[in-house]
Amino acid sequence: MSAFISIKDVHKVYPVGAGLLRAGHALHAVRGVSLEVPRGGTYGLVGESGSGKSTVAKIIMGAERPSAGAVQIDGRAMDGSQRALAWLRTCLQPVLQDPYGSLNPTLRVRELIDEPLRIHRKGLGARQMTLRVNHLMEQVGLPEALASRHPAELSGGQKQRVAIARALALAPQCLVLDEPVSALDVSVQAQVLNLLQDMQVASSLTYLLISHDLAVVAHMSDYVGVMYLGTVQEQGPVESVLEAPRHPYTRALIAAAEPARGSLTAALQGEVPSPLRPPSGCAFHPRCPLATQRCREKAPPLRQVAPAHFAACHHA
Ligand SMILES: Nc1ncnc2c1ncn2[C@@H]1O[C@H](COP(=O)(O)OP(=O)(O)O)[C@@H](O)[C@H]1O
Ligand SMILES: [Mg+2]
Repeated sequence: MSAFISIKDVHKVYPVGAGLLRAGHALHAVRGVSLEVPRGGTYGLVGESGSGKSTVAKIIMGAERPSAGAVQIDGRAMDGSQRALAWLRTCLQPVLQDPYGSLNPTLRVRELIDEPLRIHRKGLGARQMTLRVNHLMEQVGLPEALASRHPAELSGGQKQRVAIARALALAPQCLVLDEPVSALDVSVQAQVLNLLQDMQVASSLTYLLISHDLAVVAHMSDYVGVMYLGTVQEQGPVESVLEAPRHPYTRALIAAAEPARGSLTAALQGEVPSPLRPPSGCAFHPRCPLATQRCREKAPPLRQVAPAHFAACHHA
């Protein structure tokens, strides 16, 4: 299967804390991430808050330029030009965590969903527009009676359905889903995830799914990548990574996701270091039960441990 999204050795450095009288620091949010999202498949990116997942998403969506590295979407090199961005809007759309912040509260559901059509499909007549909005609402399971409501009158799940309908309005080939259900009640999360799965099958969509919740990623993905402090520590087919994890961090994430084990802090010692002062060698070594001198000195590269399965650990 060919890759729809391909990024190679992508870095993002943010200058922080600079003032008139002092030099700033460099915050290395993403440190050499490479990944491929197969056309029509789902790649799930998982990791704790602050590991760089949203920065990777922003770079892929064209909202941020990488400090180094290459991004290809559907075989085209993304160079940050207006032309590349305009093309990107037609084939890739974001769905973000916060359905409250991303929907204009003054618009009604019908206007929210037809807004992308009014902007990008100027030729569409009023009747065609109404039909298209009705169809989109039906696709995402929103009753027609909600068309004249404002976002404040909707539940969290309904708001996220509106956001998904908006993202689908221009018939993109790919959705970048950054924590799409994290703001929703657990009981509603499964409904929205199932909707996303149905939409994927119906329209052959490609998904990059980002979540701090391993259960969400496991449920949805064909491939997974595990991020820690700006780097991918392990990636591969979902069965292989979750059933035979080779990296101690992936093992800790899996243990923490089991109801009996509870939190990640119970499975792991200490806290995530600041990306302003990343550890020497392997980024995970200060929390790793297997760490040795070599881990403190040299960052392990990703190396193949099973078919299409890679782990960055000296002890994998
Ligand atoms: N615009 C920015 N300026 C400075 N630092 C940022 C910016 N965006 C993100 N960061 C920092 O980069 C790191 C990764 O953030 P992010 O990609 O949002 O992680 P995640 O989505 O995994 O929680 C964090 O330490 C965060 O504080
Ligand atoms: Mg994020």
